[in-house]
Amino acid sequence: MENTFFIIKPDGVRRSLVGSVLSRIERRGFTIEKLEMRQVTKEILDQHYADLVDRPFYPDIVTYMTTGPVVIGILRGSNVISSWRKMMGATDPADALPGTIRGDFAHSSDNGCVENIVHGSDCLESAEREIALWFGK
Ligand code: TYD
Repeated sequence: MENTFFIIKPDGVRRSLVGSVLSRIERRGFTIEKLEMRQVTKEILDQHYADLVDRPFYPDIVTYMTTGPVVIGILRGSNVISSWRKMMGATDPADALPGTIRGDFAHSSDNGCVENIVHGSDCLESAEREIALWFGK
């Protein structure tokens, strides 16, 4: 059993996709250990996306992620870190396969930033770091 951290991003909340996303998680049999609605600050994003802050598109990410509330949570299950990544689909919605959350619900945006509905930790180390960052130890 392992834990992962997920976000339903502002486009997911704004487009009323919270129920659809949570339903997929429950259908898959993962446990929702924590769930909370939050307004995101630049300060937490700078830490969350520490490896991206110097990229040219980072300011667009900050604008996008602070446009409205997000839903954050912790999922628990067997192999949940990689399974949740597979359920999300490819980062760029244009590459995401049908059947994945991004492939079924996201569309390419024209503002240079990928609005792709969900986030999931990419490995055990990221999951532990992100859970501590967003929820505290
Ligand atoms: P990343 O962690 O590489 O992808 P993922 O969300 O699939 O783990 O990137 C984080 C977010 O940054 C990504 O969801 C969308 C945004 N992003 C862009 O807008 N443009 C890009 O070229 C990349 C790599 C990411």
